[in-house]
Amino acid sequence: MKTIIEPFRIKSVEPIYFTTREQRKEILGKAFYNPFRIHASDVLIDLLTDSGTSAMSSSQWAGIMQGDESYAGSTSFFRFEESVKSITGMPLVIPTHQGRAAEKIIFTILGGKGKYFLSNTLFDTTRANIEFSGGVGIDLICEEGKHPSIPAPFKGNMDVGALERTIQSIGADNIPLVMITITNNSGGGQPVSMQNIRDVRKICSAYNIPLFIDACRFAENAYFIKLREAGFAEMSVPEIAREMFSYADGCTMSAKKDAFGNIGGFLAMRDLSLALQCRNLLIITEGFTTYGGLAGRDLEAIAIGLQEVMDEHYLQYRIRSIEYLTNKLITAGVPVMQPAGGHAVYIDAKEFLKHIPVDQYPGQALVSALYEAGGIRCVEIGSLMFGKYDDTGKLIPAQLELVRLAIPRRVYTQSHIDYVSEVIIEVFGNRYGINGMKIMEETPLLRHFTAKLQPVY
Ligand code: F0G
Repeated sequence: MKTIIEPFRIKSVEPIYFTTREQRKEILGKAFYNPFRIHASDVLIDLLTDSGTSAMSSSQWAGIMQGDESYAGSTSFFRFEESVKSITGMPLVIPTHQGRAAEKIIFTILGGKGKYFLSNTLFDTTRANIEFSGGVGIDLICEEGKHPSIPAPFKGNMDVGALERTIQSIGADNIPLVMITITNNSGGGQPVSMQNIRDVRKICSAYNIPLFIDACRFAENAYFIKLREAGFAEMSVPEIAREMFSYADGCTMSAKKDAFGNIGGFLAMRDLSLALQCRNLLIITEGFTTYGGLAGRDLEAIAIGLQEVMDEHYLQYRIRSIEYLTNKLITAGVPVMQPAGGHAVYIDAKEFLKHIPVDQYPGQALVSALYEAGGIRCVEIGSLMFGKYDDTGKLIPAQLELVRLAIPRRVYTQSHIDYVSEVIIEVFGNRYGINGMKIMEETPLLRHFTAKLQPVY
């Protein structure tokens, strides 16, 4: 088989910024060892997130020029609505300015004290919106998903046995919603199988609990189903996506991922009375029902991006480029989540930095080391992001200590990816010189965005 190439050519370029190791040491100190505090102009390869960082296509830019900025009933909204409906089959489409705005709306309506939300793994903003409402989020990832280095085809699946047991112990009346995140971002970008979605649907139906999909990376998930699940090889990605959504009562979406948008999101659902409540809240917090906090041009770009992302040449290149980086790291002995996920490479920081205990945040230590060594910015998905404290102030660590290198869509080329692998392998060779981290300052919710840290010597 020949090399799988980037399925595009480049019309417009932007600079990336070179710094020396000495400069980066100083920048890290000034940023309190938190990548969110580093200025983008001090970053060489930015793998902090795949969210809102995609390169838009010439069609999307053309769509931007056609954006209809009417306050109500803009033609861009109707194109957006049609695009979402054609993929999800859901009749009620509510635009929001990004994914978490959709979450804020749905959990304000359904959440509150005494309410439980069950998931394979909730993303951090999703969990935060549940907790902010007074509710509780519970992750029920399948057993395979708990072991980073053991490959399995669908490590994003929900543990359906645990789902049923949890519903029985909490009581269905206290569970307004079950949510499946596809692909499972916090669990390593791992896909969820169609069979798992069907099984979860069956349990939800038996207990009369609505099922929502967090659909941020629906196309990557659909492509994994096509590649890995029996019976789907001959189906097109839009057909697979349509079937996935057919089992759900609604979805939340960040259009900053699998819609190639630089901003945007939506809620889509089937229940009119729930949609009316959502729309009321939308008008208070986001904007009128036909723009929801977005400009008409954004709606246009998303409508086009949602269709482009299902192109199989694109998805083949996308999934392959993540796998390419993952395989290079595996060959060098670097402990990574296996198999490769859909949008990011996840390094197992607990294994990588065995000498650093979890209460010294090995993931954050690795994030800092990769920036210092090569100007690469990435993010910890571990105890800094998800850790809690017990009553005595002791850290309750996260299940996994991962470092995520998220690959923006259609942005970097193979030589950028080669460079990233060289830096990681070099840092792996020098790993015993890396120190743990200590938190100096933090907030109660989503602390990783703003926390100040320093190395422990
Ligand atoms: N759900 C998932 C699975 C996500 O990955 C994200 C965002 C959201 C919801 C929220 O969407 O950012 O548009 O408000 N993930 C980004 C990331 C931030 O870096 O993984 P948003």
